Amino acid sequence: MKVIETKGLSKQFGKKRVITNVNLNVDQGSIYGFLGLNGAGKSTTMRLLLKMIRPTSGTIFIEGRDVATLPADFWNQVGYMIETPHAYPNFTVAENLIMYAKQRLIPQKQIMERISTLSRQLLLTPYLHAKIKDLSLGNNQKVGLAKTLIHQPKILLLDEPTNGLDPESLVAVRNTLKELAANGTTIFISSHLLGEMEEMVTQIGILAHGRLLRELDFDQFNRERKSKLAIQIDAKQVALTNFLTEKGLTVSSTGKQLLVSGVATADYASLLNAIENQDFRPTTFQPIQEDLESFFLRQIGDVNNVSND
Ligand SMILES: Nc1ncnc2c1ncn2[C@@H]1O[C@H](COP(=O)(O)OP(=O)(O)OP(=O)(O)O)[C@@H](O)[C@H]1O
Ligand SMILES: [Mg+2]
Repeated sequence: MKVIETKGLSKQFGKKRVITNVNLNVDQGSIYGFLGLNGAGKSTTMRLLLKMIRPTSGTIFIEGRDVATLPADFWNQVGYMIETPHAYPNFTVAENLIMYAKQRLIPQKQIMERISTLSRQLLLTPYLHAKIKDLSLGNNQKVGLAKTLIHQPKILLLDEPTNGLDPESLVAVRNTLKELAANGTTIFISSHLLGEMEEMVTQIGILAHGRLLRELDFDQFNRERKSKLAIQIDAKQVALTNFLTEKGLTVSSTGKQLLVSGVATADYASLLNAIENQDFRPTTFQPIQEDLESFFLRQIGDVNNVSND
């Protein structure tokens, strides 16, 4: 089932077109990575989905229902964090979370247990009695997430929730989100940390200049990503580059390694043979898969007419 679906979603601010004819399809239990450069329109789209702003045209369906007709209490099942989270600076983390839990009508008996579970998951336990104003950027961000998750929403919209998180916290947040999705929560998330996105998303949407350039699931991404061959050679790098280029292959250098594109997996052995026959002695010869970041840049590059191999 599609939990979030948009049809022809468009938004103009005055004469400026910010979102143009976007058709999103977010599956239930999916972690949908919403990718795009600064200013692409990600936050604006999320605001539209949350009914914080009204579309110029187009329709948004949540769980199959036009958002315009959803009753107010429907939004109790939704959690969101759009850019920088807000919390009361002079109160402690625990006091803030208690306030949010009460606002979300969580029964009194369950509040402390919920806070302790979330703090454990998000590595916030040592900071429960610190005031918000004394927290670091990353811990503030995690409090924002805890606030978003406190009522166990079925649908989550997270706009750059991983801003400023350290590597340990990134893993903690990733595991928390994956567990939620495994239990049926649908997560729509934007982030510029594409390595992190690659670790958790099941669907990918790429927004460029307010248009949805691509929408694909992770299997499709796996099929479409291009693999390159990494060849490391200590001497004669230039000669090897020329040799490979003469064979019609596209070669780039990372300094240490040569990256060769356009070789089918079936041809690896014969290529290695040809290289060794020419007395080149590579120390590494291995395929590397295009990662989400390179895939994203390639898609964006195509639309911006930047040449790409
Ligand atoms: N209220 C507004 N009035 C006018 N223009 C706006 C308004 N809100 C957003 N915009 C414009 O819409 C465009 C998209 O902005 P948006 O914040 O959605 O981008 P984004 O993809 O979230 O970027 P980032 O990665 O930097 O967060 C920008 O050009 C922005 O200036
Ligand atoms: Mg944004």
